[in-house]
Amino acid sequence: MDRVILYGVGETFRCFEKMFLDFQEHKKVQILGVADKNLLGGGNSFHSHKILSLSEVVETDADYIIITAQASAANGIYADLCAAGARKESIVNVYSYALVEEKFADIDKDRLPAQLAVIRKILSASDSEVTDFAWMRAVVGQYGVYPYRSEDIDGTGNVVGTCKGIVQRPNEFTEYCTYLSKWHIDTAVEIGVFRGKSSYFMCALLARNNPNLVYELVDIADNLDNYDEFYALLPQMRKKIPSTSDDFVGKPYDFVFIDADHSYDASIRDFMNLGRYANKLTVFHDIYAHEYDHLNGGTVRMWKEVVSLTPQRKHYVFSEYPDKWMGIGVIENKK
Ligand SMILES: C[S@@+](CC[C@H](N)C(=O)[O-])C[C@H]1O[C@@H](n2cnc3c(N)ncnc32)[C@H](O)[C@@H]1O
Repeated sequence: MDRVILYGVGETFRCFEKMFLDFQEHKKVQILGVADKNLLGGGNSFHSHKILSLSEVVETDADYIIITAQASAANGIYADLCAAGARKESIVNVYSYALVEEKFADIDKDRLPAQLAVIRKILSASDSEVTDFAWMRAVVGQYGVYPYRSEDIDGTGNVVGTCKGIVQRPNEFTEYCTYLSKWHIDTAVEIGVFRGKSSYFMCALLARNNPNLVYELVDIADNLDNYDEFYALLPQMRKKIPSTSDDFVGKPYDFVFIDADHSYDASIRDFMNLGRYANKLTVFHDIYAHEYDHLNGGTVRMWKEVVSLTPQRKHYVFSEYPDKWMGIGVIENKK
């Protein structure tokens, strides 16, 4: 059993909390304590875990110090820990996904055939199937989502929780997909594809409607899983990695999906560079993701501004946790 300390107990921690508690319950980890720049440390408790000061964190010599914060906050914590003498190899940033991947190795290794089967199923599905919530929810569940919550892990959420899954919540993504599958799209771009799992799924839905679709994948880094195997089923895909929206300014795609750098500055830039030129649909992931608020307002601020910049358009929101977490925002430019 790994002895861990969770460092950073703000908004991001809340997303991962259930997962760590589940690991603890199944005796995969022992949580030695929590720490945060905003907590004083020593003696108090947070969610029944002891709060440690920076020096106490280092003294415990835990197997892992898991930073549950993002971007600049995580970098600052990492620098503090190193300066205080923590072993570098023990420090894990949850957004490196390393610890989670290790725990999920068994589930993850069998994902590819199941996911390819889902893509085939979508490509041959009928209109009535892809617009039916129950049908779509079942295939999202078989395909798998990233295991953020305990119901993803123990199967009660009717979904396979897998590091090889889509970085989405299953119900809001399902509802959005039934909406998306009605559209005839010729050109699409997804900015921020990570493993490609949302890309393959959405590309299949759109390709089912229009085999002549071109679906471009934009990211600063190539983390795509099994691209060749998925490309064999989805020749509509074009890998544009490494690149950012800066490389395509003003290009009028029918469909633009924005899920890249979640700071306000970068996400509004993706909208200004590409999102606002979309002919049909502009879609944003994480419109309620408050864990990015410290990044000059993050994607929550970006979505509010984008809505106010486009008063003449129709806006739709798909959300399991309104105003709290994740959330998909859609601007309909025209049918
Ligand atoms: C949350 S992940 C995308 C998840 C993916 N859409 C899914 O649902 O499976 C964010 C991705 O954005 C990429 N990224 C970060 N900054 C970027 C930028 N400026 N332009 C393009 N991609 C970026 C990261 O490399 C990462 O792969």
